[in-house]
Amino acid sequence: MTNGAAGPVGAGPRARGTTPLAEPGDWVNPLRDKRDKRMPRVAGPCAVVIFGVTGDLARKKLMPAIYDLANRGLLAPQFALVGFARRDWADEHFGDVVLEAVKEHSRTPFRQEVWDRLAEGIRFVHGDFDDDDAFARLADTLHKLDVDRGTGGNHAFYLSIPPASFPVVCEKLSKSGLAATTDGCWNRVVIEKPFGHDLASAESLNTVVNSVFPESSVFRIDHYLGKETVQNLLALRFANELFEPVWNSHYVDHVQITMAEDIGLGGRAGYYDGIGAARDVIQNHLLQLMALTAMEEPVNFSPAELHTEKIKVLSSARLVTPLDQNTSRGQYTAGWQGSQKVVGLLDEEGFSKTSTTETFAAVTVEVDTRRWAGVPFYLRTGKRLGRRVTEIALVFKRAPHLPFDASMTDELGQNALVIRVQPDEGITLRFGSKVPGHLMEVRDVNMDFSYGSAFAEESPEAYERLILDVLLGEPSLFPNNEEVELSWKILDPALENWAAGGKPDPYESGGWGPESAFEMLRRTGREWRRP
Ligand code: BG6
Repeated sequence: MTNGAAGPVGAGPRARGTTPLAEPGDWVNPLRDKRDKRMPRVAGPCAVVIFGVTGDLARKKLMPAIYDLANRGLLAPQFALVGFARRDWADEHFGDVVLEAVKEHSRTPFRQEVWDRLAEGIRFVHGDFDDDDAFARLADTLHKLDVDRGTGGNHAFYLSIPPASFPVVCEKLSKSGLAATTDGCWNRVVIEKPFGHDLASAESLNTVVNSVFPESSVFRIDHYLGKETVQNLLALRFANELFEPVWNSHYVDHVQITMAEDIGLGGRAGYYDGIGAARDVIQNHLLQLMALTAMEEPVNFSPAELHTEKIKVLSSARLVTPLDQNTSRGQYTAGWQGSQKVVGLLDEEGFSKTSTTETFAAVTVEVDTRRWAGVPFYLRTGKRLGRRVTEIALVFKRAPHLPFDASMTDELGQNALVIRVQPDEGITLRFGSKVPGHLMEVRDVNMDFSYGSAFAEESPEAYERLILDVLLGEPSLFPNNEEVELSWKILDPALENWAAGGKPDPYESGGWGPESAFEMLRRTGREWRRP
């Protein structure tokens, strides 16, 4: 999907100071410019600094992804990983923490020689986010690595920390000289969501971040964009002639985008309480999926063209009113998840008994363009739902006339094209087919494409793809500041309405959300798919 807006990986990023690079001198990536699609994209020399190394994300996703990249040969030998946190750890201890995370969560098999090479470049800097001395130590550590390890002055700062700390970390990076791009080297900042909690806070965060890092050096992570199945949406739409003619309001009745999870929120109160499902998932993942589904064909797949098309969709999207009828929010109560009895949110560790945080949210969006006018996009997400599934379903209008006896089409629904984002990644086409026998009875059937059986290659984890893109300086898969702000602008009215409206509606764990969500569609004569 990216097409070569590569960073300066080729012509010799140089270390600060006078000592030459440790090895192997001016490193040139031999693979970058050959444009042979069988050749992997390999990152050049660099260091990744993770702020928030003690968090779940770093342990379960970031460190394993870095190891997986190393294991696949996609990192240069001159790679370093630096952890920054308050704990007073030695480099070796941090190395042990990374090793444990890698062994537990990596996708690819553990290989001692890969680990040994990676471990040589692991460092730890302890300190608070507002501590000038700590940032001076960080700068010193990086400068040493640039020379001794050969990371060449290229640094990615990964902020896996609460958004309230983004400004101070950016300011300290700037003050310690780590934000500037000099001598053909690069400094990039990677920001995890949530990026603000409404439009106003996102705007002020953007102002602070952009005052330190130019927009081209800012990579806002939305890990859904790193998923293969999400990128395949563009291939499906723009590499085929079959779908485009029906991809519009003449044929599509509505679109359902579902991200359902069966897990609860035990242990995540610190992050989730007060944030809720809409800010956690709809503002980013689901609106991005909607933008990719609804956008026009980009001129090409360069980052600028992709952003332009997504921005057009997000600028023309709005929540359908009245909000009370066209949105729904819920909170899970006790129930059964499979054969396991589970508690409700208010009994989860860390949540107050009066928490009004929603664990389910659904909204109705319309995109006011010629292609989509009048087609509702229903977006829903929730925890402790019936099963884990993410899908985008285009549900088509009924045939204008059915020349069958009415009883012969009792089991015929609406045609649907379903992009199965996860799990069981693939695409399903649902249509009516004759039931074998002497009657002309028609019933829904599915035609399936499944990644597992069509391709031998296993898909990389989203974080592998996205971290590699950061190191290559390829921003296509990262929402820019305008996309983030427009997404908040779409969602804010629902958040304000809910904040004024008391408690979320209860729903039983293991079900498919509150009654208000079913009612939201029923009112328009539609119903949610049961994935
Ligand atoms: C994160 C949300 O962005 O995505 C989590 O903060 C959610 O609440 C997670 O559980 C789900 O990611 P995935 O890739 O497992 O669908």
